[in-house]
Amino acid sequence: MLTIPPDVAEASADLIAAVDDAVAYRGPYRGSLIPVLQDLRARHLPLDGTAMQLVADRLGIPPVEVFGVVSFYSFLGTNATGTHTIRLCRTLSCEMAGAKSIAAHLEEVLGVGFGGTTADGLFTLEWANCIGRCDAPPAMLVDQRALGHLTPASVDEVIGALRAEAAEG
Ligand code: FES
Repeated sequence: MLTIPPDVAEASADLIAAVDDAVAYRGPYRGSLIPVLQDLRARHLPLDGTAMQLVADRLGIPPVEVFGVVSFYSFLGTNATGTHTIRLCRTLSCEMAGAKSIAAHLEEVLGVGFGGTTADGLFTLEWANCIGRCDAPPAMLVDQRALGHLTPASVDEVIGALRAEAAEG
């Protein structure tokens, strides 16, 4: 089992608490790995080296196994995310239906490029491969919600609603 160096443990007190909460809820087993990682992502925590080491330690599995899962599933990712993650599909059906112009519009409206998070921490913008809405391209995921037949106007509507929701607190 790994030992977390004291300085890392001190600097990551919130992360340690989050990992311990997730492991307590999901169970300290290898089979809990993906649910634990999903729980950490749901709290917008980065799955960086420290996080992966902690998860490995708590589940009693090699860190490389955690890294393998995190690097395989792009939805897990390694960076901290904003409150909402927008993933625009860039696979063939969506690309042919104008995903590139939607991408440009998203970047303009959010003021951030793909892979980035807005300065207010509200949105992270990412690419996705097919999200299963090939019947309604171009499509994107907003958190867990799949939206299709995107237009600049529908994108504005979604982002406006989320901004208003955040402003209301
Ligand atoms: S190709 Fe975009 S949702 Fe399938």
